[in-house]
Amino acid sequence: MPRSWVDGLEARARASLPAPVHEYVAHGAGAGTSRDEAAAAWRDVRFLPHVLHDVTDVGLATEVLGTRLETPVGVAPTSLQRAVHPDGELAMARATAAAGGLMVVSSNAGSTFADIAATGVAWWLQVYLPSDRTLALPLLERAVAAGARAVVLTVDTPVVGSWEPAGDRVWDVVDPAFTRVNFDEGHDTQPGAEKALDLGPHDLDWLAERTGLPVVAKGVLRADDARRCVQAGAAAVWVSNHGGRQLDRAVAPARALPAIVRELADDDAEVYVDGGLGSGTDVLAALGLGADAAFLGRLPLWALVEGEHGVGRLQDRIRAELVEAMRLAGCRRVADARDVVGSPAPV
Ligand SMILES: Cc1cc2nc3c(=O)[nH]c(=O)nc-3n(C[C@H](O)[C@H](O)[C@H](O)COP(=O)(O)O)c2cc1C
Repeated sequence: MPRSWVDGLEARARASLPAPVHEYVAHGAGAGTSRDEAAAAWRDVRFLPHVLHDVTDVGLATEVLGTRLETPVGVAPTSLQRAVHPDGELAMARATAAAGGLMVVSSNAGSTFADIAATGVAWWLQVYLPSDRTLALPLLERAVAAGARAVVLTVDTPVVGSWEPAGDRVWDVVDPAFTRVNFDEGHDTQPGAEKALDLGPHDLDWLAERTGLPVVAKGVLRADDARRCVQAGAAAVWVSNHGGRQLDRAVAPARALPAIVRELADDDAEVYVDGGLGSGTDVLAALGLGADAAFLGRLPLWALVEGEHGVGRLQDRIRAELVEAMRLAGCRRVADARDVVGSPAPV
């Protein structure tokens, strides 16, 4: 039995989505070890709550890369939103805008950047870079023109982690054109359009220079790599194992986060985290381990089965859970959460 409405989301989505779409969203790479451990690791975090602190007035407002948000919980970039609900990214964006949140838009989104921006949501672009970097320029220019406030370079995907679908493949039931609406026609067949295998720190700098936007490195699990990203000009490091969809048995983000926070403690760079976060209490753990913001990947997709309403309800629930957890931990502001983790998950 699910413990809450949020816990039951996946089961309800599974009952209504075509099986290959559900499986595509749910799967982890390989044996699914990293996907499962990501969620379990948040539950290993123990709090050391404050008492006798006035928690009448709890506020979740925060600022990431200069954008004020009403919540420290953002929507991670995911493709196939249109396969989950016909309104896809637009429903996700409207609900996120209403919550005063941040949406990170996948370069494989099924809605145009201009349409997403027209919802009024604060949004960042996520990109993979191709072997021939110049082929990314039209996409980057479109995102800048449509008002993206930062560029997130996903650094953990030189190749896509493999897995075995149980039945039909998702592309047997979903038109791959769904993922190409922001690319030039014929982009994928151009020489050099395949994912770059030679990504390096200089690519972060190149993106900043070409877009004029702050750049975030997404998919970092090691403190030495976090340092290299910041030295190369990254404004933020996003601790993630891609929801366990890349290298199976990669360490859980909750376990990787503390060392990266320590490494960057004296820098201006921000630190975010995603992977397996399933409740407001998990978000408190992420903030407690030092993240400036936390992101949800699959949960908003499961909620999107019920369109804008479903995503809005998810955001309300997570917000209410986080406010309750903060009150119980004696925190009034997001920054107060920094010292409420008593025993961090071992790194
Ligand atoms: C269906 C699906 C599609 C995804 N597509 C992308 C993508 O296009 N770019 C990217 O950087 N990450 C992508 N991710 C990874 C998410 O951004 C995020 O890192 C991960 O889902 C977080 O874990 P969680 O699902 O446990 O919350 C995808 C994840 C899922 C489940």
